[in-house]
Amino acid sequence: MEIIRTPAAMTAWANRILAAGQTIGLVPTMGFFHEGHLRLMRTAKEKADHTVVSLFVNPIQFGANEDLGKYPRDFSRDCQLAEAEGVDVLFAPGVQDMYPSEACTRVMVSGLTDVLCGASRPGHFAGVTTVVAKLFHIIKPQCAVFGKKDFQQLAVIMRMVADLNWDVEIVGHPIVREPDGLAMSSRNTYLSGTERQAALCLSRAIAHARRRVREGLVEAEILLQEVEWLLQQEAVTIEYASLVDQATLRPLAVLQKGVVLALAIKVGATRLIDNDTLFEEH
Ligand code: PAF
Repeated sequence: MEIIRTPAAMTAWANRILAAGQTIGLVPTMGFFHEGHLRLMRTAKEKADHTVVSLFVNPIQFGANEDLGKYPRDFSRDCQLAEAEGVDVLFAPGVQDMYPSEACTRVMVSGLTDVLCGASRPGHFAGVTTVVAKLFHIIKPQCAVFGKKDFQQLAVIMRMVADLNWDVEIVGHPIVREPDGLAMSSRNTYLSGTERQAALCLSRAIAHARRRVREGLVEAEILLQEVEWLLQQEAVTIEYASLVDQATLRPLAVLQKGVVLALAIKVGATRLIDNDTLFEEH
């Protein structure tokens, strides 16, 4: 596996691959890999001739009071894991390489970004779309794989790609869960034993919602009341529990195909999100 540190070297590599008529699959990450990331890499490998994983803890998507400073990092372990997956290139630029001091451009998707996570994380999605746009320009992938745990991020990136006529296929990978149901996340390492137990209310609430949909419940308001009650049984703070359309992110009053149950809670100091497309089998 090649480790590339600068955008110029990365683009030179991409140009060679494309000139040979081959394709590039990209997995954008902030590192500290877990099984969820490895599955994204396997998907990218299936879809393209070459796999590039970007590893960049993107400072501009973190708010002033967020966890940029303590975001978990382990570069040598990440290299070993990516190499074992058969990744061709790990692109790991420095902050100055991605944002030279004169940089003053932001890519922003409006509307979809000021609800749900965007409501409590102003500027977060502009940070995400800016870095993803830059990665697409630098790496020139034909497909890019993102986890569905960040389902709002996926919706925003799909919107950006459609709005900008970008010729890159965006692939959403199903959420990968721990055996006890907790959605995998690099931030799970922040949780104490008791916090981790409390966090299981997320997957319990999702299982309950799926059951209620199977039973034929159609009123979103009733389901939300039940979900909130379930979450409140644990020592967590609910940031939001919403039933929204998966593409527009608008709240739905009637449970129907395309509805997503989207949850965000705080367990101690750790913010966790989870979601489920209630009508889809998985
Ligand atoms: O999902 C993430 O890890 C990040 O938001 C991403 C897409 C790599 C952009 O920094």
